[in-house]
Amino acid sequence: MTATQRPVVLITGGSRGIGRAIADALAADWRILVGGTHTGSVTPVVDVLPDAAPFVADLTDPDAVAHAVAGLSRLDALVHSAGICEGGAVEQTSRETWTRQFELNVVAVADLTRMLLPLLRASRGHVVTINSGAGFNSGPGNASYSASKFALRAFTDALREEERGRLRVTSVHPGRVDTDMQIAIQARLGHAYAPEAYLRPASVAAAVRLALDVSQDAAIDSISVRPSGLRLRESS
Ligand SMILES: NC(=O)c1ccc[n+]([C@@H]2O[C@H](COP(=O)([O-])OP(=O)(O)OC[C@H]3O[C@@H](n4cnc5c(N)ncnc54)[C@H](OP(=O)(O)O)[C@@H]3O)[C@@H](O)[C@H]2O)c1
Repeated sequence: MTATQRPVVLITGGSRGIGRAIADALAADWRILVGGTHTGSVTPVVDVLPDAAPFVADLTDPDAVAHAVAGLSRLDALVHSAGICEGGAVEQTSRETWTRQFELNVVAVADLTRMLLPLLRASRGHVVTINSGAGFNSGPGNASYSASKFALRAFTDALREEERGRLRVTSVHPGRVDTDMQIAIQARLGHAYAPEAYLRPASVAAAVRLALDVSQDAAIDSISVRPSGLRLRESS
């Protein structure tokens, strides 16, 4: 496939972790807009992909997002992978912590999607959100992050029905994944880090690829991807 024929996907959080793995999984036949907060995080990814360009913006900064979006003329898929996780018991979670997570994990997703709807509708496109198992279940120490992911699921459920017949909307719910985010979570909890206990980012990326590849008569609304435990058993 020549570069000009390629469908275009914007992957927020494409610089690292799950988003980076999604970029790798789609690289053979998509043009990839790699999202990240600054040029330094995005350029090394753009440079190694066959057909890619940077999409640099702090997604919580409306002016920066509007500026980045203004440069787009075609979009076939939008994958929201950028996100933050700041755990903590309710007693210790400040208003600022709640606000930061909702701002990036929910508000920025909704606003970027709204801005890109005309391009996505024109291509009968696809919106994918990287949600979490925490988007279905909450528990001690997880109120604010989990609430943001519940809210993200509410957003995708509404968008899917509003846009049925125009766009497809897939909510991907991974369990714990071996990324910088998980390393920080385990450090905060004072736990030793065992990468083999977690999903590989590439395994989540394969689920995203499946959702994007499904034939036009079908839509994968939601996918849960959990660690199988087999890797842990092999390494013990
Ligand atoms: N890791 C897990 O165990 C796990 C499990 C379930 C769901 N998830 C979800 O999966 C998604 C990706 O997580 P991950 O583990 O890949 O995270 P990660 O390794 O921490 O990477 C975070 C990504 O988000 C970008 N980002 C952070 N703040 C941003 C902002 N304000 N504006 C724009 N981009 C921003 C980062 O860009 P820079 O590189 O420029 O900083 C980076 O590309 C998140 O939504 C997370 O909630 C993760």
